[in-house]
Amino acid sequence: MRGSRERESEHFCFLQLDMRTIHTTAELRAALTLLREQGKRIGFVPTMGALHEGHRSLVRLSKQDSDVTVVSIFVNPTQFGPTEDFERYPRTLESDASLLIEEEVEFLFAPTVDQIYPNGHSTHVHPGAIATLYEGARRPGHFDGVATVVSILFNIVQPQIAYFGQKDAQQLAVIRRLVADLAFPIEIVAAPTIREPDGLALSSRNRYLTPAERKEAAALSKTLFLVRDLLLDRHSPAHAKVAGMDEFQRFAPHAILDYLDVVHPETFQPKASFEVSEGLEEPSPTGRGQGEGLIIIAANLGSTRLIDNLVI
Ligand code: PAJ
Repeated sequence: MRGSRERESEHFCFLQLDMRTIHTTAELRAALTLLREQGKRIGFVPTMGALHEGHRSLVRLSKQDSDVTVVSIFVNPTQFGPTEDFERYPRTLESDASLLIEEEVEFLFAPTVDQIYPNGHSTHVHPGAIATLYEGARRPGHFDGVATVVSILFNIVQPQIAYFGQKDAQQLAVIRRLVADLAFPIEIVAAPTIREPDGLALSSRNRYLTPAERKEAAALSKTLFLVRDLLLDRHSPAHAKVAGMDEFQRFAPHAILDYLDVVHPETFQPKASFEVSEGLEEPSPTGRGQGEGLIIIAANLGSTRLIDNLVI
């Protein structure tokens, strides 16, 4: 008779085998084609790995809505500028896989660069005006890289539904336009931003912060909440912005504020006025809806760039 330890390890192996980690496009396509033929609904969560509770929340939404969840982990070189952190971006595939196994994800797609951009790759997706503002202006080519890789991933996975975080609001707006303009038959779901207890939005880049920078990093969300309260109190965006900038510098004297603005959530055009309409006095508890405005902020703490936003 076999010992209980042997049976335990067998059980452990079985749990691990439940999630398939796939590294090639051909293998993923083959597996998903079969499931699609069986009428399974496929949910997709694209990521660059270094997974945290924000990513986990997207995975949970997909698990709720879909029969099969595919999570991709691909640190996409084309969305990083030449002076950005592509080389040092955290790569933690083993612990990422554990988190996804915990969430009972069916497929982890972790391709190499060659799988996504095979030899001679030369077609790029170039989003329109929205990608030239704010993050697009500070990071030339960034949204081309995002739109290109997301299009390729959409064509490989062919999900019915895909999940993106409100945390990266401009990326979300670029993806919504991409899906509408290129007629991808995919529903895009925006997931609320998951925050630390002091308000800092979770981000794979938070791990770059020194303890002193980490303390000051809470200034981004504190500023957003102040600006939101002022707007709901019917202050003008211009006034709310000045008060917000003061608050930011007071709380984070060593940080450099890049921008703080009130914009339209779909076009990212600045809003000179903001009407508080019926029912808007109370902020949406989930931040999930597409509000009438969006407060956006970006700042540099040492060599780390952080962004955040709040729907209003
Ligand atoms: P990444 O930064 O890994 O983020 C993957 C997804 O997680 C994005 O949709 C992002 O908005 C979401 N996310 C990040 N932090 C979050 C938080 N605190 N709360 C909720 N959701 C959060 O965004 C990318 O990767 C890439 O640009 C990608 C879309 C994968 C294309 O390469």
